[in-house]
Amino acid sequence: MAGPIAIVTGAQRGIGYGISRVLADRGYTVVLCDLDESALSEAERSIPGSHAMTVDVTDFEAVGAAVRTSEETFGPTAVLVNNAGINRDRMLHKMAESEWDTVVNVNLKGQFNCMRHVVPYMRGRKKGRIINISSASWQGNVGQANYAAAKAGVIGLTKTAARELARLNITVNAICPGFIDTPMTRQMPPEAFSAMMAKIPMERIGTPEDVGRVVAFLASDDAGYVTGEVVNVGGGMVL
Ligand code: NAI
Repeated sequence: MAGPIAIVTGAQRGIGYGISRVLADRGYTVVLCDLDESALSEAERSIPGSHAMTVDVTDFEAVGAAVRTSEETFGPTAVLVNNAGINRDRMLHKMAESEWDTVVNVNLKGQFNCMRHVVPYMRGRKKGRIINISSASWQGNVGQANYAAAKAGVIGLTKTAARELARLNITVNAICPGFIDTPMTRQMPPEAFSAMMAKIPMERIGTPEDVGRVVAFLASDDAGYVTGEVVNVGGGMVL
């Protein structure tokens, strides 16, 4: 039997895939949203009951169409997880305008686009859970002016939406992963990777499922009175 619908963006790999797996294990029917059709269908095959949907979160109209299709085909959106993200790291004085625009567009505007289209459905039902993936970097990180600004923006977006939607029984929370083992972090130069590892009091890199289990909690009835919060999932990296 199909469970409640959870839409997860950036779901074909990394943290988004881990979140999707955990939610599917907990009985959700997960709508996997990402850019690449063939990678998505592989993820769809490996996650029981899931549905793949190709969508670019930066495309306002395409996100609207995807949300409508999901609502009409699979059912009411119980949970939206805004996870899609990219980085284009460079020192501020060398950063190209396009590197700024791309990162802010995907990491911040992408989350607005998804919320803008899902929230009217949730408002109508007076029910919903939104979980936005920010980053420990929101507090500032060398080489990440674009990424940190976008991720700090996610926190402002989350807290504003939490205030607007609280009386409608819709919770909105953010998660800040610390350093998680994904293709994004595996692309880092070895010295940068080791420097990040040295900052983790728990002395291990996080897994996508470490993040997924916190998403599952925030999506659950147990977290019904929690909104506007920013939860660090970083093995003590940010205290
Ligand atoms: P990843 O690069 O492994 O996966 C990101 C996914 O997002 C990819 O599947 C990619 O295709 C998808 N994506 C990118 N642009 C998209 C778009 N325009 N529309 C739809 N999908 C798009 O990255 P990872 O590490 O899994 O990161 C996931 C989220 O967690 C990101 O928001 C990232 O900023 C955040 N994060 C990751 C940390 C880490 O240590 N890996 C730490 C803190 C935050």
